[in-house]
Amino acid sequence: MAASVSRRDFARLFAIGGSAALFADPVWAREYGQAPASSPAIGGTGEAFWKSVREQFVMPPDLGVLNAANLCPASRPVLEALKRETDSVDRDPSAQNRARLSGEKENLRKTLAAFLRVTPEEIVITRNTSEANNMVSSGVELKTGDEVIIFQDNHPSNLTAWNEKAKRFGFTVITIPQKNPHPGMEHYIDAYTKAITPRTKLISFTHLSSSVGDLFPAKELCRLARDRGILSLVDGAQSFGLLDVNLTDISPDFYTGSAHKWPCGARECGVLYINTRAHKQIWPSIYSAYPGAVGISRTFESFGQRDEATMIAFRIALEFQTKVGRDAIEKRSRALTQQLIAGLSKLPEVKVWTSSNPSLNAAVVSFMPGSLNPPRLGQALYEKDKIGTAGRGMGDRGGLRASPHFYNTPEEIDRLVSAVGRYVKTGV
Ligand SMILES: Cc1ncc(COP(=O)(O)O)c(C=O)c1O
Repeated sequence: MAASVSRRDFARLFAIGGSAALFADPVWAREYGQAPASSPAIGGTGEAFWKSVREQFVMPPDLGVLNAANLCPASRPVLEALKRETDSVDRDPSAQNRARLSGEKENLRKTLAAFLRVTPEEIVITRNTSEANNMVSSGVELKTGDEVIIFQDNHPSNLTAWNEKAKRFGFTVITIPQKNPHPGMEHYIDAYTKAITPRTKLISFTHLSSSVGDLFPAKELCRLARDRGILSLVDGAQSFGLLDVNLTDISPDFYTGSAHKWPCGARECGVLYINTRAHKQIWPSIYSAYPGAVGISRTFESFGQRDEATMIAFRIALEFQTKVGRDAIEKRSRALTQQLIAGLSKLPEVKVWTSSNPSLNAAVVSFMPGSLNPPRLGQALYEKDKIGTAGRGMGDRGGLRASPHFYNTPEEIDRLVSAVGRYVKTGV
């Protein structure tokens, strides 16, 4: 009953609009207590609030999936919109009914721009981060003699892509080695500074690495690039929807992200931010019909027919996060992360690869569980303890990865830590 009450209230609050309405509402205050923005600590009065947020997700209460770095669940309002709008088009695929949705792409663009604190004229709606990263590596004009500097620990869409395109277009890729544990922000600023030459045309890195959750000095590296007249691409797959990202402050030339990760949006939608100052420095990779209506999207976003239902769902996901509170979401995920790192670090034999320093990590934690076989441990955790993690194999910084988000709970973190401790003692 409590769940249906909170669902009803949340839906009502969602309809009111504005985070102020959410937190100021007397029903919300009575039912859930203090808003989390003023009580972000785990175990504080905010737990009732976070419980009500969790109830907006359809995951069974006893299933703790700590896999946000790979895939996040969509919330009820997102799922409802996706179903409603998909049904609508399939029930009535007439031009008239579809025309009703024609403004939705621009509505999403405006919401994305506000979320990332930039202008709609700088937003391209893509299918995912992979596509967005590749639009940059295919679209920036590079030739023999030019140099691109990338980080060794980038995802293939921002690592393999550059190396393969270098073979075709003749430019050279310089790779900055990854160091474990995280050697500190200054190390990477220094490494990029030393690697820059008069031939450098672009630098790229991952804002938060998906392997072990190393946080990168995005603002400083983008400033370094800007000061030297070099383009910058920030892969934001692991920061978009987790960190309270402000792209006007970070000021990259390009930033990329996916809806289905931390923003908890629908699958197969993403974003490519192209700073106004870089609009003339990138070519479109795809030419087709149905461009966007403003700015760079008019020339860069003719991708043919799109799925409006997915775009509406993505917009609602961003509005959902805004109403819960961007800053609160970041604090909550980070607090759960620190709880997890502290718990795992106390277990004998367990090696945590992720830095315990909260200024160098965010919400991606990787660890080697002693001599246990990681895939077997991952399976036991899922089947016996109802905890979802991701496997990292046995190679470089291998083991398991757990990535908590705002819908996870301190209890789930405790359950993971105590289960790992138990298996380390007894085997799996
Ligand atoms: C850092 C990073 N970049 C890019 C991607 C690719 O994202 P997608 O599969 O949504 O294109 C991922 C996926 O995990 C990632 O972690």
